[in-house]
Amino acid sequence: MKTIDAENFKGKRVIVRVDFNVPMKDGVVTDDTRIRKAIPTIKKLVEDGARVILMSHLGRPSGNGFEQDYSLEAAAVKLSNLIGRPVLYSNEIAGEGTIDKIAGMNDGDILVIENLRFDAREKKNDEAFASELASLADAYVNDAFGTAHRAHASTAGIARYLPAYAGYLLENEVKTITGMLDNPKKPFVAVLGGSKVSDKIKVIENLLDKADTIVIGGAMCFTFLKAQGAEIGSSLVEEDWVERCKEMLAKAKEIDTTLLLPVDVVCAEKIEAGVPVKVCNAFAIDSNLMGLDIGPKSIENYKKAIAEAKSVFWNGPMGVFEIDEFAAGTKAVAEALAENEEAETIIGGGDSVAAVNKFGLADKMTFISTGGGASMELVQGDVLPGVAALG
Ligand code: 3PG
Repeated sequence: MKTIDAENFKGKRVIVRVDFNVPMKDGVVTDDTRIRKAIPTIKKLVEDGARVILMSHLGRPSGNGFEQDYSLEAAAVKLSNLIGRPVLYSNEIAGEGTIDKIAGMNDGDILVIENLRFDAREKKNDEAFASELASLADAYVNDAFGTAHRAHASTAGIARYLPAYAGYLLENEVKTITGMLDNPKKPFVAVLGGSKVSDKIKVIENLLDKADTIVIGGAMCFTFLKAQGAEIGSSLVEEDWVERCKEMLAKAKEIDTTLLLPVDVVCAEKIEAGVPVKVCNAFAIDSNLMGLDIGPKSIENYKKAIAEAKSVFWNGPMGVFEIDEFAAGTKAVAEALAENEEAETIIGGGDSVAAVNKFGLADKMTFISTGGGASMELVQGDVLPGVAALG
């Protein structure tokens, strides 16, 4: 990957794919993390004297044109506040208005164009659309790590038409995550949670011979427990994946990787705040109850594994942490990571990021990824289309 440090972009029009797919409420950005993380690349280009054209998607609009709820104007305003300089905005993508605005830009100016997904051709990686986007600029930078797992016109196709570079965020995310996978300080512990084993199967498979211990929590643990013959009550299970879990348990044993499963679970009749809860043996859950968090003995086991680690990758909560009754497992994992100051700790996007933020521990982690889906695809060993396109 060629990075932006390879070049001085003075006087050039540089089109930058950022991931400004940020949470919004009533037209205001409620979490600006992704915008802040794009600033180093934007600053470098501004300082070079480039004319910086920023493009992104926001949410999943219909693809039939402008929709106010998905406009990037609020993101442009937020960027302007954060970076402390004016940011121009165009209410279209690559039409006449945008072309005119770019023609009027001076060196160092920044322009945000509208949501790429207002045009259905973006997600289709349409050749003509990629070429229209490319025609706006002299060089292309991809800094949208969070969208690098999508082969879209702005993340893949466009790179065929312009000199293409990786921005700092993309570079840093890929280097940090693959660095831990390829060369982890040992012991390397992966903590994986979430509801579906089917979503994480490739991740677990790829980590089996890299990690020393894989800690499993969240509802996906019940498919593993069932594979070991446990009575799991009415807990979530993916019957179709029980056999695959059996195979994985056997493989782990064969290669001496520890797959750590809960020995006890916090159970309730339904997923609701204020319901009566009971701690059950993970192998003998009452038939009317479902497991909604790991139990106290499991917490101790998981904390011990994390405390002994020199590198930890975490993706996915241990239970329904949005509800206080089922948050203890996820909180304990977050605290164990925070307390292990010697270890390199990577939080792989999505719900685990929400969890470390909720428990006020984000600044104790070594690295927090801005890409949930993208970091998972990296960890499962896939080449991200947005990265491949820069090669
Ligand atoms: C994300 O938030 O995961 C990225 O911005 C990608 O968004 P998408 O899942 O709608 O492609």
